Order: sequence, then C-alpha cells, then structure tokens
Amino acid sequence: MVPRVSTLGGYIFEYQKSVTNPTGFWAHVADSFFWRKKWDNLLNWDFEKAEIKWFEGAKLNITENIFERHQFYRANQKAIIWEPNDPSEATRELTYQQLFDEVKRFSNALLKAGVKKGEVVGIYLPMVPELVVAMLACARIGAIHSIVFAGFSAQSLSDRLIDAGASLLITADGGFRGNKITPLKAIADEAMDNCNCVKTAVVLKRTGETIQMKAGRDIWWDDFVAGVSTDHEAELMDAEDPLFVLYTSGSTGKPKGLVHTVAGFMVFTAYTFRNVFQYGDGDVYFCSADIGWVTGHSYLVYGPLLNGATSLMFEGIPTFPDAGRYWEIIDKHQVNQFYTAPTAIRSLMAMGMEWLDGKRLKSLKVLGTVGEPINEEAWHWYHDHIGKNRCPVVDTWWQTETGGIMISPLAGITPTKPSYATMPLMGIQPVIVDQDGKELTGNSVEGNLCIKYPWPGIARTIWGDHERFRQTYFSTYKNMYFSGDGVKRDEDGYYRILGRVDDVINVSGHRLGSAEIENAINEHPLISESAVVGFPHDIKGQGIYAYVVCTNFSTGGEEGIRQSVLLTVSKIIGSFAKPDKIQLVSGLPKTRSGKIMRRILRKIAEGNTSDFGDTTTLLDPEVVEEIVQGKI
Ligand code: WTA
Repeated sequence: MVPRVSTLGGYIFEYQKSVTNPTGFWAHVADSFFWRKKWDNLLNWDFEKAEIKWFEGAKLNITENIFERHQFYRANQKAIIWEPNDPSEATRELTYQQLFDEVKRFSNALLKAGVKKGEVVGIYLPMVPELVVAMLACARIGAIHSIVFAGFSAQSLSDRLIDAGASLLITADGGFRGNKITPLKAIADEAMDNCNCVKTAVVLKRTGETIQMKAGRDIWWDDFVAGVSTDHEAELMDAEDPLFVLYTSGSTGKPKGLVHTVAGFMVFTAYTFRNVFQYGDGDVYFCSADIGWVTGHSYLVYGPLLNGATSLMFEGIPTFPDAGRYWEIIDKHQVNQFYTAPTAIRSLMAMGMEWLDGKRLKSLKVLGTVGEPINEEAWHWYHDHIGKNRCPVVDTWWQTETGGIMISPLAGITPTKPSYATMPLMGIQPVIVDQDGKELTGNSVEGNLCIKYPWPGIARTIWGDHERFRQTYFSTYKNMYFSGDGVKRDEDGYYRILGRVDDVINVSGHRLGSAEIENAINEHPLISESAVVGFPHDIKGQGIYAYVVCTNFSTGGEEGIRQSVLLTVSKIIGSFAKPDKIQLVSGLPKTRSGKIMRRILRKIAEGNTSDFGDTTTLLDPEVVEEIVQGKI
C-alpha cells in the first residue's frame, strides 16, 4: 500500500524529510508500486528549460498497478459504483475483476482497430462506466487519451481533436443530464466533419435516440467489442511516456493540451489521494467532478483505483430530480468521503434546508472541496449541515498542470481554518513572490504563488508546443513554476488562495480564458470587438461580464444582439461559457498603444464607478464615462 501519514507529528516529520531529501522521500513512496523495471535516475530537472523527468529508465503500466497489483485480494471488491442520472434506473456496480475484464476486452478491440502505442484517442462520453473502461484501455495499450468534457461544443471538440491529432474517437449517441439530453453523436459528427484526423468512431448506446452512423467510420461499442478476448498483457511503458493530454484554458490564446506522463502522475495521485482523504480499506468515496476535467482524471479514476478504492461515479446533476440528490446518494451508498466544488455547495445552500430533511449523512467521515476559493459561509454550511460538525473539510488547492493536490489539510490531521487550503503536502515547496519576483519570506505576506522544486505529478509539456509551456509557467519568475494564483500566508503560516492574478476566469469551478470567450464573441457578424472580465458572483464564484462593441443593432435590437451573442458562445465553446452579463458599448477603454485596460472594466463589472487608479495612459476617457453610465 501507498504510505499514509496518520498524525500531525507524522505529517511534520514526513514533510521535513520530503524537503531535505526529496529524492529519498519519493523513492520510498514509489517503492510501494509495481514496476516491471525500477528507475535508473529518480529525478532530472531544469526549470529554465522546463524539462522535468521522474523515474527515468523505469518500465511499468499504470493499469497493472490498478489491477494486477490488487488482483488476488480485491477481485470481488467494488471498483466503481455508478449512480444514474434518473434515480429510477438501476445502479451499476463493477468489481475490480469485472472492470479489469472490460478494460482488457476494450484494449484488444482498440488494438484490432489498429490503434498503436503513442497514438492519441479522443473520448467524448457522458459520465458512464464505459468512460473509465475506455481511458484505462488506452493506458493499458499505451495510447494517449484525450478526454473532452461532454459539455463542449462541436467546434471546441474538433479544435481539440485536431490539435491532439486523434485518430479514433469514442463517443455515445447522447448523454443524460437532469431532464435534458445532449445529442453527443450529432455534435461529434459535426466535429469530425471539421477534422481529417479521426478515422474511426466507436459509439456507445446510452440514450437510445436516433443517430446517423457513417459507414466505414462509425461502429457501435457493442459491435466493436463483440467476440473480443479478455486476455491481454499490458504494454510496457517508459516512466516518461505520455499517459494523457487534457486541454485547459490559459490567459491567452487557444486552450493548451497539458501532457501528463505515466509514472509521476501515478505516484503523485495515488499518494495524495490516500493522504488527503485518509482513505481506508472498505470506504466508499464519491467525487462529484466530471471526468472531462482534471479532478475526475486524478481523483475519480486514477488516485482512487490505484489505492484499490471503491469510487462512486454519478451521471447526473445535483439538482435532479431535486436539490437533495447528492445527500440521497450519500445515504443510499453509505459514502464515507465526499469531494465536490464550492459552487455546488453554494447553490445547494441557496436552495434551503428542506432538501436535507430525512437525510442522515451518518456514513460521512471526510468532506472535500476543489476548483475555486470557498467562502467562509459556504465552508461553515458544509461543515455544520453536511458534515454535522464531525467531518473535517479538506479545501484542496491544485491545477490541471499540477496533476494532483498541492496545498491541503490532511483530513482529521491538519487543524483546519475556514477558506484556507492550509499547508503544503509532502514534497511541495510553495513560495510567495512579489511583482518583481522577490521571494517574500516569513508569515503574514501576500503575493503570487510559485513552486520552487518539482513534484512527480507536474505536467511535462504542452502538446506540440514546448516553448509555450516554458513561457507560460517558467519564464515569469526565474527557476520557479508560476501557478497564476494569488495567495496569502497568514500569521500561522497557513495558505489561503486568493484567486487568479491573470485573465483566467473560474466560473463554477470551470476554467475559462477571457481571450477564448472574446474570440468566440467576435465571431458574431455584428460584433467588431469585445472584452471579457470576471466579476464576483454569489453562486458561481465568478461570473462572466462581456463588453461588446456592436456595429449595427437595427436587426433584433439590443436584446436580440444579446441573445445571439449567447448563442454564438454556446456554439463555439459550450453553454457553460455563456456570459452572465452583456453590455453593449461604443468602444473599449484602451491605452495609447491599443491595449484594453481590463483593470477599469473589472472595476465597473464589480459595480465600482469611480476610483479607477491611474488613467493617464487612457486614449479616450469619454469611453469610460459612457460605459459607467450604461450609454452606448
Ligand atoms: C483554482 C482544478 C482556491 C485556482 C483542480 C487554480 C482553487 C485553478 C482551489 C485550477 C482551491 C483550484 N482554492 N482556488 N482549493 N482549487 N483553484 O486547472 O485558481 O481546472 O489555478 O484545476 O482553480 O483550475 P483547474
């Protein structure tokens, strides 16, 4: 088993060890895994060049560490409990043996279809167990999975498939979410029409609606695996071979395909899962994230399954059929650890206490949050009413780039403080720097959050663009990874994440770049220019505020333009990226050199109508006046 710390003294001791002798520390953690060949060199790194390698020379397969490693004593234990969108549909459960057989069968089917080691496979599926089967089968044969959240539009899907060069796509006829059906295959058809790379599409039947199957390209999942053997020997992978590509938004440009590699990701997610959640044998763990985002990758699938855990997977949404759904699932499956986003907590809190009536929630031992800062009120509601004052809340800070949790309490061990992610995990060396890159030492300081030493789970590159990887994360501050987040270290040395300091907007825990939304809006034929900023939102954490310059709104009037801008964003990115507010303006505040002064737009979006700081570089101050007064 992966080593687990169980006391505060143990944490302090292990943390010290991990900082004074990082390689010795990680070698010890890695010893608990199953390697076909051990590493020659534990760590090789150069932050200047953005080159990081862990466990070089080692040979392994991550799925052997999930299945073969646990086979003899976990074969009949539940690996996945699946709760459907509609509570009247039956729950599905897969034991480790059943999941193993499905993964091996699908591995053979992928090989039969000609998928080779190192090739990228796109996955665009709803939250069903076949999604886990598909990703683990990729990992087993050495193909690189690139999962696209099933809320993304056809254009976003095709952009990602093209960038990754995916040769095969695994999708479904449709997906259920609340009382809606998403026509996934129709969206995938449109995406595939836009890219030449996808030659085969495997289609899972889920909703049963009528779809088009293109001869020579599309094949039903059941036909794809029919008659295929469940005997399969895992492909031998190098430690630094890519495991997956996952796209995420940054400040500028198009979304980046972050690449994570096999061994480091495995060791880091397994270790952090066990320690943060204090998972014990027999526990039922429920992570409500979608596998389309990194939380689902690391803490619904890989981290838990590498520990032989029982991971609960939920297809639906927290408010269907009513706002008591999460609590009902927790009681029904006797969930012990529950991990969700602050947005979900805030929206359920706003629905009132009646949804907790009759819910016992007695099985719960640990509560977790991720994805955005949690405000004190939501923290207390979660702690008092869901955790009944007896479950520790772990506020876990991390990112797609970090692969796993970086700063977080260890459940029941680290004393918590509402809205604080508290202390760094073992092996993580955070530093706070000021604008000039000077390290701010000691307590009671605030600045930008960087990490000064590598950890096994750090992303290795951006797919197809290593220079962008170096530039984005390693060029702002010398010899440090820059997270893009602001942070405070208080008088006790506790860390509190303050939110992004760049143009990334975190809407309901979904990460979006302002440039990405602006580009989508600018596709609208009547919009010449736009600027998007985040603003504080009671439920979503941040909302999206769009200032748009419209060239002609005689057709449909202002309201018509707003509606069609929303439609454009849904079509180009997905409906989760729709702006909450759209203000039509005649121009944007720009500096003489043509740069949009977002600082001013952010202030106005927050409801601040004066006090814009230094505006001497502003080209046309009247524009600001107009925007404040809501005049076009
Ligand atoms: C934010 C999600 C405050 C942060 C795992 C980060 C958080 C971004 C927390 C990454 C937290 C994540 N408290 N903010 N506990 N966790 N964030 O890549 O701004 O989707 O940079 O990864 O979410 O989002 P991503």
